[in-house]
Amino acid sequence: MELKDCLPYLLYQFKSEQEIFDSITEISRKFTSERESITDYLHDNRLVSAYTLYFVLTNIPKFSGVLKWLPAGFIEELKNSVFIDMGAGPGTFSLAFRQWAGPKKVYQIETSQKMKEQARLLWNGFYGPEDLLQDFPQDDQGPRVMFFGHSANEMGSKITLDYIKKVNPDHIIFLEPGTKAFFKEMLGIRKTLIERGWNQVYPCSTHDHCPMENTENWCHQYLHHVHTPELERVGQKVGINRRFMAMTFQVFSKGMFKTSNAKIIQVKGETKFSFEWVICDQNRLYDVEVMKRNLDKSQQKYLASLCAGEVIEYQIDKELPTGKRRIILSTQK
Ligand SMILES: C[S@@+](CC[C@H](N)C(=O)[O-])C[C@H]1O[C@@H](n2cnc3c(N)ncnc32)[C@H](O)[C@@H]1O
Repeated sequence: MELKDCLPYLLYQFKSEQEIFDSITEISRKFTSERESITDYLHDNRLVSAYTLYFVLTNIPKFSGVLKWLPAGFIEELKNSVFIDMGAGPGTFSLAFRQWAGPKKVYQIETSQKMKEQARLLWNGFYGPEDLLQDFPQDDQGPRVMFFGHSANEMGSKITLDYIKKVNPDHIIFLEPGTKAFFKEMLGIRKTLIERGWNQVYPCSTHDHCPMENTENWCHQYLHHVHTPELERVGQKVGINRRFMAMTFQVFSKGMFKTSNAKIIQVKGETKFSFEWVICDQNRLYDVEVMKRNLDKSQQKYLASLCAGEVIEYQIDKELPTGKRRIILSTQK
């Protein structure tokens, strides 16, 4: 999908390329520095269209990118699920799911009338009116996944948790901003979901307290993605680097799906001899190093590309006097 493919299906027809750049700059400013007037864009055809244009194309790779962190059994289940896009906006993640899973029923819950109109236009443009229902789910066959994409942070935790109670899905996915402020909110949502009997699939491998609660750090993930040349050009024009996408990605299920215990929490850097990370293993943080001398060039290149969020399996090679762990990755042996 390219920008030009979306242009015919926007609520607002931009008069020039420059107007597209200016409108995207305006919308992105709203999400960074002008958060107090953040909901203004929901009533404006031009800004809704700018939002659509930019975020549909970055959210599609974001959606498929995070799936690599989830267990195969969960992915299989997700592929066969009914998708409930909460705070769907123009339906960026509905389209991402449809592209990834093939024809499936998609529900969208959205309070902004303009966003609903935009979502309908876009969906019908690409797929025709079938399969999209802008309403709460009916009695469907098969598992149901409730997806919050950059929307729980706008709804707040009370509304988010009320929606979950009302819909009572089988799985819940949060793909939200990777900010410290949202992480705090996410901790509260996580606590309630665990109390309600949900199992966490990702990132935590136990239901213990998060070790980053009440610290200056927060658990968030990064994806690195090189977009299409057209979108890279827009990014350069509007001064937004979307190659490194930060996010809060958390997944819960009524079923038991397990990832490996350890995740990279922070990439601290690379020395001449080693890769230096902070990892979380069963809700405990460890400083670790992976020595380069045991790795060939392609393994080193691979490790250099890893970002926070990556799921790893390892063995302890040595407990260093500094408290750091020297580890060997299982794939390294
Ligand atoms: C930042 S947009 C995200 C849109 C889309 N999920 C995406 O990631 O591209 C947040 C959306 O949440 C919607 N929203 C906010 N509060 C809501 C609520 N209580 N119920 C349903 N939608 C809501 C807004 O109208 C807006 O379209």
